[in-house]
Amino acid sequence: MHRPLIAAALATSLCAPFAAHANEAGEAAVKARQSLMTLIAYNLGPMAQMAQGRVDYDAEVAQAAADNLYTLTRHSQERLWPEGTAHGIFEGTAARPEIWQNLEEFSNLYATLQGAAATMQGAAGDGLQALQGALGDVGGACRSCHDDFRVSD
Ligand code: HEC
Repeated sequence: MHRPLIAAALATSLCAPFAAHANEAGEAAVKARQSLMTLIAYNLGPMAQMAQGRVDYDAEVAQAAADNLYTLTRHSQERLWPEGTAHGIFEGTAARPEIWQNLEEFSNLYATLQGAAATMQGAAGDGLQALQGALGDVGGACRSCHDDFRVSD
C-alpha cells in the first residue's frame, strides 16, 4: 500500500537535482541565444539606419558592423537550442516548439542568414547603394525565421 508512495517520493528526490541541473543549463542556453540575437540586431542597427537615410553613410562604421555581423553569425548553434527549452514548456523564451520538429528547416534558415551576412560583409564598405542592395537579404533572413519559429507578442 505504501510502496508506490515511497517509490514516488524516492523518484522525486533522486530526480530533483537532475531537473535543477537541466533547468540551469536550459536557462544558460536561452540567455546565450538571446544575447547572440541581441548582438546581431545591435550590429544590424547602424546599417539599417544608413540604408534608410536616418544617419549619413559612413563606410568605416558600416564595414565594422558588417564584420561583426559576419563573425556573430559564425557562432555555432549547437549548444544554443537544447531540447526542452521551447516556449510553453520553458520560462522566458520566445523559441517556438516547431524548431525542434523542423530542425533541418531551422538550420537552413540560419545558413541563409550566414550567407546574407557574408554578402553584406563584402558590400557594406562599398558605398550606400551596395549596402542597400545587400540589406534586403539580411532583413529577409531574420524575418523568415522569426515568422515561423519565434513567438510574436
Ligand atoms: C534561424 C532562425 C533565426 C534567424 C535567422 C534570426 N533569428 Fe532572431 N530569434 C530567433 C528565435 C527562435 C528567437 C527567440 C529566442 C528565445 O527567446 O529563446 C529570436 C530572438 C531574437 C531577438 C530577441 C532577443 C531577446 O533578447 O529575447 C532579436 C532582437 C532577434 N532575434 C534579432 C534577429 C535579427 C536582427 C536577425 C537577422 C539579422 C535574426 N534575429 C535572425 C530565430 C532567428
